[in-house]
Amino acid sequence: MPMHEANRMMRLPPYLFTIVDGIKREVRAKGVDVIDFSMGNPDFDPPSHVITAARQALRMKGVHRYSKWDEEIECNLRRAIARWYYTKFGVELDPDKEVVPLIGSKEGIAHLALAFLNNDDLALIPSPAYPVHFNGVIMAGGILYNIPLSEDRGYLPDLMSIPRETTRLSKMMMLSYPHNPTTATCDLDFFNRVIHWGHDKNIIVVHDLAYSDIVFGSKRAHSILEVKGARKFCVEFHTLSKSYSMPGWRMGFAVGNRDILSSLVKTKSYVDFGLFRGVQQAAIAALTGPQTYVKRIVGLYKQRIDYFVDGLNRIGWPAKKPQATFYIWSRLPAQYCAFTSMEFTELLLRETGVAVAPGTGFGEQGEGFVRFAMVVPEVRMKVALGRIQEFLKRKV
Ligand SMILES: Cc1ncc(COP(=O)(O)O)c(C=O)c1O
Repeated sequence: MPMHEANRMMRLPPYLFTIVDGIKREVRAKGVDVIDFSMGNPDFDPPSHVITAARQALRMKGVHRYSKWDEEIECNLRRAIARWYYTKFGVELDPDKEVVPLIGSKEGIAHLALAFLNNDDLALIPSPAYPVHFNGVIMAGGILYNIPLSEDRGYLPDLMSIPRETTRLSKMMMLSYPHNPTTATCDLDFFNRVIHWGHDKNIIVVHDLAYSDIVFGSKRAHSILEVKGARKFCVEFHTLSKSYSMPGWRMGFAVGNRDILSSLVKTKSYVDFGLFRGVQQAAIAALTGPQTYVKRIVGLYKQRIDYFVDGLNRIGWPAKKPQATFYIWSRLPAQYCAFTSMEFTELLLRETGVAVAPGTGFGEQGEGFVRFAMVVPEVRMKVALGRIQEFLKRKV
C-alpha cells in the first residue's frame, strides 16, 4: 500500500542540506577526505565547568525522570536565563512567565508556528533565512510571504514594501540579526522602526537571536526587547549551541510576551517533556559561570574568518569578512555564475571534497551564493584552500 505523506509535508521545499549530506556520504564512501563547511555545527568543546556540572548532575537524585516546569532545577534555569538576559541586554524578565526553556531554539521556532498559524494564515518571512523560519510555517499549514533581503539594503527587510492587505492578513513576522546566512547585523534603530511599524497591527514579531555573542570589534547584538513596547507582541529565541558550543545538547530558550509564550508552552506540553535535568544543570553553569570562554571562541572564530577570507581572496574567489556570526556568505566564483548554487555545491564537493551550504537552502533569494561555516580548524582550511585553488584553475 503506498504511504502518502501529509500535504503540508509535500509543500516543504527539498531539504538541500539532507541532499548535501547524501552527497557527502557518497563521496566519503569513495575514500575522499571531506572538509565540511556546510553546517553551522561548532567544533569547539563546551566550557569545562559546563561538562563538570553535567557530570555531577548525572548523580543527582531523580535526574533521569521526566522533568517538570515547577520543580527546583527548572525554576533555577529560568532564573539563570533571566539574570543572563539582564546582564547582557538590560532587559528585566519575569522568570516564571516570560522565559521558556527549549530543546534547542529550532524546536521552539517550529512549535511557535504550530501554536499560532491556522491553515492558510500568512507569515512574513525574510528570504534568505535560517530554514526553520520558513519550513516551520509550511509545516504548520501557513502561507509564506517572502520579504526579499538584498545586499544594498544591508539585508534588512523593507517593511514599507509589504502590501497593506498582506500585513493585515499576516499573523507572524520572523527576524534574525545577526543574520544567518548573510551575516548582516542591525542596530537598535532598526528594531525601533519594527516596533513602531508593528505596534498597531495584530502581528507576532519573532526575533531569533542565535548569534547574540558571535560579533566582532565594537559591534554589539541587540535584543528586540530593549525597545519600549516590544514586549506587547514580540518573542525572542536564543540558543546555547553557538555561544557555548553545545549544539548536540539541545538547549535553547524563548523570552518575551507572556501570552505568546504561554501558547508555546501549551503546544510543547502536548509533544515533549522538557529538557533532561543534566542538560538543565549544564545550562545553568554555562549562563551563570565565567563568560571568558565566550570571548575566547569569538576570538578563535575571528582568526579563522580572517585566515579563510584572506585565503579565498588570494586564490581568486572574492569574499568579505563578516561583522558577526561564524559564516562567510559568498557569491559563486565568476566563472561559475551560470550554475545554480546547488549545482556548484555538488560539483565542488564531488571534485574537491569541500562541502559548503548552497544559498538556495536558505530560500530563493539565496541563489547565486554559498555559505561557509567556520567550524573547521585552520590546518584543514589550508588544505581546503589548496583544493579550491586547483578547482578554480580548471576549465568550466
Ligand atoms: C539563526 C539560527 N537559529 C536557530 C538555530 C538552531 O539553534 P538550536 O541548536 O538551538 O536549535 C540556528 C542553527 O544554526 C541558527 O543559525
